[in-house]
Amino acid sequence: MNFMAPKILILSLALSAAFAQKPDIHPHQLAPYVSSPHQIVERMLELARIKPGEKVYDLGSGDGRVVIAAAQKYEAKAVGIELSSRLVKSSQEEIKRLGLGEKATIVHGDVFDTDFSDADVVILYLLRDSNNTLKPRLEKGLKPGALVISHDYEIAGWKPQQEETVDAFRRGHKIYVYRMPPQK
Ligand SMILES: C[S@@+](CC[C@H](N)C(=O)[O-])C[C@H]1O[C@@H](n2cnc3c(N)ncnc32)[C@H](O)[C@@H]1O
Repeated sequence: MNFMAPKILILSLALSAAFAQKPDIHPHQLAPYVSSPHQIVERMLELARIKPGEKVYDLGSGDGRVVIAAAQKYEAKAVGIELSSRLVKSSQEEIKRLGLGEKATIVHGDVFDTDFSDADVVILYLLRDSNNTLKPRLEKGLKPGALVISHDYEIAGWKPQQEETVDAFRRGHKIYVYRMPPQK
């Protein structure tokens, strides 16, 4: 008889219960907070060929670096959507400090409850499964010609019009560029 089996079962039940009750994990948490290195932000925005006044969204905007760079360097109307109140507060403070309030906005909210259908460019740094979850919203909501640029993770079933690998922090980061409606 294996005396360890009941112990392992009890331990795994306890762990699942603890995870299910973890208060700081939002049910729509699409990815943990990890910033894109600045070189990757620069390259994603270069690939987007943003014209002044175009609308750029970062879905899950973290510390606001994509929004800030899009507003500062490309004069975009840049919007970040972010779940974490701590990151919203710090990115809003940075936008204010840089005097970018007219061009850069951070919305405290869930990507799933926010309208981004007027986007010219959507930036994503989420996870493979999260891209899959978001895919129907992007397909339904975005206008023809809008670009979706994803750091590290593909959007399964879409053919990128461009893809490249950029080295930063000792690894290659993939960048995928898709144009709406996506080629399949
Ligand atoms: C991997 S980080 C990327 C941050 C930033 N876009 C960048 O590239 O530096 C993902 C961010 O998405 C946020 N996030 C996760 N799920 C979200 C949701 N449903 N709505 C809004 N933000 C979300 C996380 O809090 C985190 O800050």
